[in-house]
Amino acid sequence: MGVVKKGMKVVHRDRKAIGQALRLAYYPVVAVRAEGSKVWDKDGNEYIDFLGGAAALPIGHRHPAVVKAIQEQADQLVHYPPLYGYHELAVDLAEKLNELPRGDFTKRTIYQLAGAAAMDLTVKLARVGTKRPKIITFLKGYYGALYGALSLSAFSTIQRRYLGPFIPEIYHVPFADCYRCIFKQEYPNCGLACLDYLKTVLKHLVPPEEVAAIITEPVGSDGGYIFPPVEWLKGLEEICQKHGMLFALDEIQTGCGRCGSWFLSEQYNLVPDLTAFGKGFSAGVPLSGVIGRASVMDELKPPSAIGTGIANPIVCAVALAVIDVIRKDNLIEKGKKMGAYLKKRFEEMKRDHHLIGDIRGKGMLIGVDLVKDHKTREPARLEASKVCWRAGELGLILTTLGESVLRVCPAYNLSQSEADHALEIIDNALSDVERGKIPDSTVASLSPW
Ligand SMILES: Cc1ncc(COP(=O)(O)O)c(C=O)c1O
Repeated sequence: MGVVKKGMKVVHRDRKAIGQALRLAYYPVVAVRAEGSKVWDKDGNEYIDFLGGAAALPIGHRHPAVVKAIQEQADQLVHYPPLYGYHELAVDLAEKLNELPRGDFTKRTIYQLAGAAAMDLTVKLARVGTKRPKIITFLKGYYGALYGALSLSAFSTIQRRYLGPFIPEIYHVPFADCYRCIFKQEYPNCGLACLDYLKTVLKHLVPPEEVAAIITEPVGSDGGYIFPPVEWLKGLEEICQKHGMLFALDEIQTGCGRCGSWFLSEQYNLVPDLTAFGKGFSAGVPLSGVIGRASVMDELKPPSAIGTGIANPIVCAVALAVIDVIRKDNLIEKGKKMGAYLKKRFEEMKRDHHLIGDIRGKGMLIGVDLVKDHKTREPARLEASKVCWRAGELGLILTTLGESVLRVCPAYNLSQSEADHALEIIDNALSDVERGKIPDSTVASLSPW
């Protein structure tokens, strides 16, 4: 981020014209053009993009196949709502999506517009599919900002402030966060104390036969790329099977190959009843949905999940193009390799930077957790904002999630030279922050996660 004079004018107009509740403000990059993993701003500055449209651009910005799909579809049919009729692209896409999650049973897809809406739909499906009212979900989870999704979310009290009452009968228990275990235990010696906690809740507080579903992310995404032990996820699945609850995964961020398989559940041998998707498959256009067991999906009767813009032909054409490019160019494998390389380089960086406390990741979903102190693991919140700011100045779009986790979720086709340049920028930004070169005032007006 060199000079952002022209950009700042837009930012000032934005603050006057747009309600700022829709924003997490890191720095004033006003994008005008993008291609692959590069973005250019209004002042002509060039950036490498490690945010990747908030993990929504698996094949990068303006991939030629996506541009072609949009242009060709725009020439044929822009809007014909499946709400009132049919178009074939929605069917083509659903047939492809239904094959992706594990499970030897018939599946169907119901589309929505955003991740949050897919999570609202998950709650509806769980309740109607089991005729039970209660939902179990987890602290530190983020499922979106619509009322249903926000009722599930327990990531930021600031985000929930004054918005209650939320939808009832949602119970939050601790997520398996092994780096900051609230039981002060170490995995695996803990014997999964967090799972025992949930079992205790089901024994003394919430009757399991009233629980419709356990809803979780397989990776605590906005919570800070928290990877729970696979055993914990398996334990949740077993509890669901034992008590007739649905096992529902939010793969909105981890899906579309981001963690090295179409859905992370595939690698972990999990068979979810419901899988929410969004982000990657949508490539930045409004598409999300739930893929699920037909017997459950069919319980939700028309018109319980309708919406005017849902499964628009252009959006479906984009998602089909994304799936096609990922398959043809073997991008899941490429992303896995590049992700392993990035992770290795962050591990090397850790030796030189006391701020780096932990590195977690799979494929192209990597979190670099910055801490004030390696023993207490207290999040280095201010420092993380400064690192992002400095990275921006040096030409890298970098943000955080959790309290102080640098978020690395670029396109799977990030080139080696882009990766190396971005790593060099992060290395330099960390050094500058550690040496106290970035004053607190620089980031005082920002509002990061
Ligand atoms: C795991 C997860 N679920 C749901 C959402 C909400 O998606 P959207 O922002 O499209 O509503 C997000 C967005 O960050 C997410 O990461």
